[in-house]
Amino acid sequence: MTRAELRRPHAVGSAYERVEGRDKVVGAARYAAEFVRDEACHGWIVGSTVARGRITEVDTATAAAVPGVIDVLWHGNAHRLTEVDDAELMVLQDDRVQYHGRPVAVVIGRTLEAARAGAAALRIDYDVEPFHVQLSAHDPDLVVPDELNAGFPTDTESGDVEAGLTRADVVVDQEYRTPHLHNVPMEPHATTARWDAADQATVYDSTQNSSEVSRTAAQAFGLGAGAVTVHSEHVGGGFGSKGTTRPNVILALLAARLVDRPVTVTLTREMTFHLVGYRTPTIQRVRLGATAAGRLTAIVHETVEQSSRLLDFAEQTGESTRHMYAAPARRVTHRLSRLDVPTPRWLRAPGEAPGMFAVEAAMDELAEQLGLDPVELRIANEPETDPDSGLRFSSRHYVECLREGARLFGWSRPRPQGTGPWRVGRGVAGSTYPAYQQPSSARATARADGTFDVEIAAADIGTGARTVLRQIAADALQVPIDRVRMHVGSSALPQASGAGGSSGTASWGRAVTRASEQLCDRLTAVGGAVPFDGLSAEADTTDELSAQPALARFAYGAQFVEARVNTITGEVRVPRALGTFAVGRVVNPRLARSQLIGGMTMGLSMALLEEGRWDPAFGDTVNDNFADYHIAANADIGDIDVHWLDEQDDHLNPMGSKGIGEIGIVGTAAAVTAAVHDAVGVRIRDLPVRLDKVLAAL
Ligand code: MOS
Repeated sequence: MTRAELRRPHAVGSAYERVEGRDKVVGAARYAAEFVRDEACHGWIVGSTVARGRITEVDTATAAAVPGVIDVLWHGNAHRLTEVDDAELMVLQDDRVQYHGRPVAVVIGRTLEAARAGAAALRIDYDVEPFHVQLSAHDPDLVVPDELNAGFPTDTESGDVEAGLTRADVVVDQEYRTPHLHNVPMEPHATTARWDAADQATVYDSTQNSSEVSRTAAQAFGLGAGAVTVHSEHVGGGFGSKGTTRPNVILALLAARLVDRPVTVTLTREMTFHLVGYRTPTIQRVRLGATAAGRLTAIVHETVEQSSRLLDFAEQTGESTRHMYAAPARRVTHRLSRLDVPTPRWLRAPGEAPGMFAVEAAMDELAEQLGLDPVELRIANEPETDPDSGLRFSSRHYVECLREGARLFGWSRPRPQGTGPWRVGRGVAGSTYPAYQQPSSARATARADGTFDVEIAAADIGTGARTVLRQIAADALQVPIDRVRMHVGSSALPQASGAGGSSGTASWGRAVTRASEQLCDRLTAVGGAVPFDGLSAEADTTDELSAQPALARFAYGAQFVEARVNTITGEVRVPRALGTFAVGRVVNPRLARSQLIGGMTMGLSMALLEEGRWDPAFGDTVNDNFADYHIAANADIGDIDVHWLDEQDDHLNPMGSKGIGEIGIVGTAAAVTAAVHDAVGVRIRDLPVRLDKVLAAL
């Protein structure tokens, strides 16, 4: 191939189908639990039946007597691990129990059924201690966390908050609550682990971050980098719950070490409610002061949330409040309750999703009190620069999202009339999510037949990452897309960041672009006459990312919802939702649309249905299944319409893209509660909007 053969296609921006779509539809795509070989066996996790205490006895005899059971792994025979940051991963190391469902044993069987039967027969005795699983804003034991998730500061304050509230013409002062929310991706977490040597293991894991699982698993077993190879070719969703190493990885490795053969550990749906993290419940007090003209004089956002006895995970609930609206005075605080519960963790837009619910709901209340249109109130408080850092925005088209969304939705048209007991209402709320990028590396290799292999330890968790990276590589290599083979989903590939923080495409796309560009330069340098089969280039983006100028980089959106509320039954239906987003350049419209609709669907589910409940008497979840933990299904969702602006931002990455994985869930719930209020005059400030709450307030 010579330079003359190259043409300049534009794969980026085109609506390609998922590369692996056919494999998934015909069942050829393999997931972590499907790498079971003949000699492999199954591990069934046994969770603690008490919320706090000490294991006094593990009687393995009854379990071992079950036909097909090979062995029982427990703290008496488990390999001693080396400490890692996440104490949730230090499983089976001692006799302590920190929450209901905490792994206390793994029964290993020749079949899944044998392992399960063995687990049922296993007898474990406990010394039970008093426990506490209920979050309260008045708990005397609340702590100030050292920092929030992702390193954000716990408390920030600027300007004179008290003066801002005092001189305000109108003040909204309300408490908002969000419940436990669970990730529950379609594919439950699963790991197949095999020890190839005493210091070398291969793991098939359902993860959003194979590089991180490889690092952490090796560290936990006191091994060097690269000792554990992690494959995650296909992943059936994660929503954050597979963003870091989960206990199933460590348990599978421990079990495989004990019985000296490969072991698959699959979580049941119930186990995913205990073992992989969830979104903390929140209690948020929001105070907004404003002039009669609708200019904010103060914003106060104080959050109480929970973590476990194992470690402090403090969600950044108020972080978006630091950046969203102009106000001369601002206070954002976070307090943490350490309860006898599993450790919360990431769930799609950790922080933004519950935090923006509270602040956007308060903005709607403020608009009502001021007699202003809620769209105009938001526009009136548009900041010139980032209110927190004072930095310029790389691009900010929030106002345009509000205006365009309002036009498309028909916001200014008269509200439709309801029929019979059904009243119709409409609501609006804002969306935002940071445009993150993380260091990654990638390799591009030229083949003699004119094709290319592009490799990166990225994760495609159903988002279409493999497809968009192939588009990005094709453009950077200046070849048609069918000449590029994209390899992702293994820690054996060049190390990359995880599929998290809506940063995948931006982070990996930058690395893929750089590796491809460097390969093009090399190909040009050697010329067409020289054999170049196998010529490759590898790029690492660490340096160029740290050299990026300091700017405030965020994506924005506006969501509009039409709700119908039944005044006899209290039921709420959302026949129509519309989101308009400013997310930089859209790499693949088909996949982007799907991500944004998915986020809004999850937002509607959060608004109307989802609610994890902990039993104060037993310290256990009471609805750890799909029958009792309600997630929006097709029949719950009406027409969701998504649009995006043609946003140009040259301060992001080579593609000009912002992340789209999470912003869709941000703001939806506030738009729903605003619409419910518009319909029947009822303010629901604690999610979800259940019919009993609506009825009680009618
Ligand atoms: Mo997302 S919650 O950052 O995987």
